[in-house]
Parts: sequence; C-alpha cells; structure tokens
Amino acid sequence: MGGKVIFTEKPRDSIENIFDRTNEINTIKKVMDTGDWLAILGPRMIGKTSLAKAILNEYKKDYNTLYIDLTGIKNSGDAVNRIFNNVPKNLIDKFKDNFEILGINIMGNSIKFNRKVNNTGIMESLFKLLSKKKTMIVLDEFQELSFGINHFINMLHNIMMENHNIIFIFTGSSIGLMKTLLEQEGKNPLAGRNPVRVVLEPWDRQTAFDYLKSGLTNCNANISEIEINEAINEIGTIAGWLNFYGKRRCIYDHNSALNESIEEAVKVAKYELANIINKSRWKRKALKMMAFGSSYSEILKETKVSTSTLSNFLHKMEKLYLIKNDNRTYYITDNIYRKAIK
Ligand SMILES: Nc1ncnc2c1ncn2[C@@H]1O[C@H](COP(=O)(O)OP(=O)(O)OP(=O)(O)O)[C@@H](O)[C@H]1O
Ligand SMILES: [Mg+2]
Repeated sequence: MGGKVIFTEKPRDSIENIFDRTNEINTIKKVMDTGDWLAILGPRMIGKTSLAKAILNEYKKDYNTLYIDLTGIKNSGDAVNRIFNNVPKNLIDKFKDNFEILGINIMGNSIKFNRKVNNTGIMESLFKLLSKKKTMIVLDEFQELSFGINHFINMLHNIMMENHNIIFIFTGSSIGLMKTLLEQEGKNPLAGRNPVRVVLEPWDRQTAFDYLKSGLTNCNANISEIEINEAINEIGTIAGWLNFYGKRRCIYDHNSALNESIEEAVKVAKYELANIINKSRWKRKALKMMAFGSSYSEILKETKVSTSTLSNFLHKMEKLYLIKNDNRTYYITDNIYRKAIK
C-alpha cells in the first residue's frame, strides 16, 4: 500500500511494506469481515505469500493467527507436525490439557502421539480448539497436500459447516490450487462454499516503474530512467522478478544485475511451468506456440486434442493471467515465462 520500497527476497509481512495492491487488500478485508474463506491466486513471485502474511498481521489483534507453509509435506503425519509446530506457544500452553486428552504430548518443539491417532481427526480437533476464539489460518502452498486431499477437504467441510469462527486463507501454486481445491474433478469440494478468489495480476508498467524507482532511490543506486525502462522491458512487471533486479542493482551495475536476475527468475518460472505442463506433451507444445503467439486453430491443429480439452486449458491459463488473447492470438503475457518456455 505505501511505505518505502526496500528490496528483500523475503515475503513482506505487513501492509505498510506492500507496494500497491490497495484494491486487492480492500477486497480481502471485506471477505475477511464477512467470515468467508479466501484463495489468493497468481503466478509465481507475484506476492501471494506477502499478501497473506500482511493480512494475518492486520488481524492479529482480534484473531488467533497461524501461518503454515506446507512446502515439502509428504503425508498427513507431516502435515500434523507442521501445523502443530506453527501454533504459537501461548496457544499450545493454553490447550495443553486438551491435547493430552487427544493423546498428544507436547514437549518443547516436538510433539508425540501417545496412541495411534487419526491425523485428520487430530487436525480437526486442533482447529476446533483454536476456534474458541476467532481464528485465521493461512495454508501456504496448499497444493502440496494433494496426497490426502480428500480427507483434508472433508475435514475442512466439517469445520466450515459447524464453525463460523475460523477463516482459512489458501495460497500457493495457482494451477495446483485450482486442481486440488477449487475445481476438484468437477466436484464441488466445499459444498458450494468455495473460497472467494483474489487473483494477483502482474502490475501495469507505471506501477512497476514506480516500484523500482522507489527502491533504487532508497538504496542510493545511481539510477537512470532508461535503465529502469530496459529492466521492465526485459523482466516484465511481476514484483518478485523486479525485486531480484532491484536488490542486485542496489549493489552493482545495471547489466550484471539485469542478466543475473533474468537467469534467476527463469529458473523459478521453469518449476512452475513444469507444474502446469505436468508431463503432458500437448500442453508443452501449446505453451511453446503461445510463447511466440498463436491462434486457437493453430494450437488445436498442432496439439491434436479435443476442442473442449484445449478450451478448458486456455481458459484456466487466462484466468491466471498467464496468457492473453488479443485479436485471436494467444500469447504468454510475462516476459520471464516467455523466456523460460523458449
Ligand atoms: N506488493 C509488493 N510490494 C513489495 N514487494 C513485493 C510485493 N509483492 C511481492 N513482493 C516481493 O516479491 C517477492 C515475491 O513475493 P512472495 O514470496 O510474496 O510471492 P509469492 O507469490 O508467494 O511467490 P511464490 O510463488 O514463489 O510462492 C518477495 O521478495 C516480496 O518481498
Ligand atoms: Mg509464496
């Protein structure tokens, strides 16, 4: 929203340090105030985690707040551990007796189960205990839970039905979230009460310019508007990529900063693309065509999939602002993604 820009590769964790995004923040606050659940979507490095953390910080006076990063979770036991390890110490102390009744022993940073427990059952009990007070929980990289997703979604469903004191905010890989939570095989996983979606789009050029200018001025880099414009031409307008450049440009020259940040960004984008492609040859082909710009019929002809399959895929990609359709030509919007695909 405001404040000075200081380039850092850590997610922001307060609204004062979020540049722009005023509309999104206002929308999210409205959603939070009605008690609805939220999914924050958008391409890699756009600022999903930052926004989720900043929102938690805004509400921590009146809510129990929990940020849980599910990266690298392999099974539901892992998930239980990860969740418990992120429950603030004061709440652990408060509920210690209840945990013991559930068969959970908490010693310092580790938890031990006294008997065989049902992991999702434990999570449900924990969430219900927490929600004696209003509670807001961010589940970041939620798609990583895909192994036991049906049990987990059932649990969320139960919580949603019985309990109006708890708000979940889901973030993570957009494609993954759509697949695991929002559009689960055509079913309606949360009984029609889908989380409200807020999609973070890449900035417009002016906002990206202002972001770089503000941060570079702040670190006393010797800035030139020509260089800032060249950086945006090459890098595009996604906050995280710009931040890569800004951080380096605060330390050394424009060309080195630009080359290094592009290289770094392309590496990250490739991971997300692998997630989207998911080993499908035709999707790989379609993306490649769109990196250069292609029409629907050209893509259809080359990929040889059905029109409904292709339309579905393109629709999803459009919803995430990864591609645009201009004058019947589909193309990849972000420069870094385009470079990564090529
Ligand atoms: N609105 C913003 N203002 C300032 N910095 C931002 C903003 N959005 C993102 N950033 C910066 O960009 C980088 C990426 O942000 P963040 O980690 O929140 O994105 P993400 O969408 O969660 O990324 P990933 O897909 O990798 O999880 C961080 O360095 C963060 O500080
Ligand atoms: Mg993130």
